[in-house]
Amino acid sequence: MSLAVSKLPKVETDPDSPSPGVTALAGAACGLTLYRVMPHAPLWWRDCAALMARQLQRDMLSDVELFDAASTADLYEAWLFVKPFRDGRVVCGACCFRWRTWNDMPDGWSMQWAWLHPDFRREGCMSAAWTVFLRRYAPFMVERPISKAMHGFLAKRLGEGFEVKGEPVIVERSKT
Ligand SMILES: CC(C)(COP(=O)(O)OP(=O)(O)OC[C@H]1O[C@@H](n2cnc3c(N)ncnc32)[C@H](O)[C@@H]1OP(=O)(O)O)[C@@H](O)C(=O)NCCC(=O)NCCS
Repeated sequence: MSLAVSKLPKVETDPDSPSPGVTALAGAACGLTLYRVMPHAPLWWRDCAALMARQLQRDMLSDVELFDAASTADLYEAWLFVKPFRDGRVVCGACCFRWRTWNDMPDGWSMQWAWLHPDFRREGCMSAAWTVFLRRYAPFMVERPISKAMHGFLAKRLGEGFEVKGEPVIVERSKT
């Protein structure tokens, strides 16, 4: 069972100047505002990212914690998806990028997880955010496990021939 839409966190801040450690990118397609949340952002914003991560864990029946709001040790950028809802705006999803260091390939940004509330899927939110992510992080890796929905999304973005095989999934700058 999904989190009730009425339980999604309400955003009451001025979209143009939220808080230190939080950057707003308004004006994306489909009424979406993206908020980039850094480890030094106020706890409320980090808690929102943690709530979204827990929904994905629940959907995937996983006990592995994806996002610890209290941790300031890791270098991450978590993006909150904020959309109009009734007479206000709610956090309806999130996507987290982390800086990863590898033994066998160059260090870089990696898309660790993404989750959107079911009522806000297939409205183009991730597609709108993708443009921002490509510009900021590409080339970046998409971490496993890759859900059926994410596979469908990547197939659309990376081309019909896209398959998740053994090798890492790397999104290049030229891919849209
Ligand atoms: C994966 C996810 C982030 C995609 O976000 P979204 O905003 O719904 O994606 P978009 O609306 O931008 O979709 C763009 C295209 O991707 C493809 N796509 C998206 N979701 C899909 C799905 N469930 N199955 C097949 N293709 C899908 C479609 O081609 C879609 O275009 P269309 O709607 O015109 O057919 C979202 O579905 C989600 O959060 N799913 C549940 C959690 C999850 O699986 N997270 C990923 C963990 S790896």
